[in-house]
Amino acid sequence: MASDREQQLRAYVEYFRDLGVHEFYRNGEPPAAAAAVAVAVASDAVAVAPVVVAAAPVVDTTFLEPPIAKLVSFDDLAALPSSRVAVADRGAALRALQEEIGDCTRCPLAYAGRRKVVFGDGDAAARLMFVGEGPGADEDESGVPFVGKAGQLLNNMINAMGLKREQVYIANVVKCRPPANRVPEPVEANTCDPFLLRQMDIVQPEVVVALGATAAMYLLGVKQSLASLRGQWHRCRGAKLAVTYHPAFLLRDPRQKGEAWKDLQMVMAELGLKAPGKG
Ligand code: URA
Repeated sequence: MASDREQQLRAYVEYFRDLGVHEFYRNGEPPAAAAAVAVAVASDAVAVAPVVVAAAPVVDTTFLEPPIAKLVSFDDLAALPSSRVAVADRGAALRALQEEIGDCTRCPLAYAGRRKVVFGDGDAAARLMFVGEGPGADEDESGVPFVGKAGQLLNNMINAMGLKREQVYIANVVKCRPPANRVPEPVEANTCDPFLLRQMDIVQPEVVVALGATAAMYLLGVKQSLASLRGQWHRCRGAKLAVTYHPAFLLRDPRQKGEAWKDLQMVMAELGLKAPGKG
């Protein structure tokens, strides 16, 4: 249940969204409208209905700080559940979680023009899970992750590993499209991550592949170059985790496809998979 203050803040966010202001967290520099909200919220005498307040020279921007600014690995976010969801129950558990998320308004992305919440896709008991960054335009339209150009490349990567897309599980760090496909803000990722964590705890994959730096950063709780994280095994929610390039990056720089294939071969060896046509 949202507190009065949260409801009040949401009302302001919606109000400014309608005015075309979506960016409340960029670079620590609140836009004038957000500054006006900060002034309004800082005052105890604020009315529930949105009130336009002139931007003041001294502004309390503390509420603009992400609620959880610290980068925490998924393993440190929560202990592994003591009882595991049985294979036969995993589909229903995912559906219940999707229902719980509903038409989510927990973070600013809900007010930044997203159309559909993109929950996840694939086998609820998959041995292999891919985690991307966040939905793009095609995913926002369809409600399914990785269906655009990057998704087609991901499908090809999955097929090259000797698997069908339906045999893996695919999700993202954030479930709503960031405006203009920007990188999710920490407040957005931190708000959404507990749901991804629960998806991982339901599916219980043996291997997770983090697609790109954003997925690697939030899953592992480290800010490191992709180069330093690739080519080795990490741990996440009881699974082995490998890091590789995001398919959208590979579309921009196809010369790195060979490197990504090395990462996928490491995953295939772990899962005992063979490339099609390789006996
Ligand atoms: N890029 C992502 O990271 N996720 C998607 O679902 C689509 C594109």
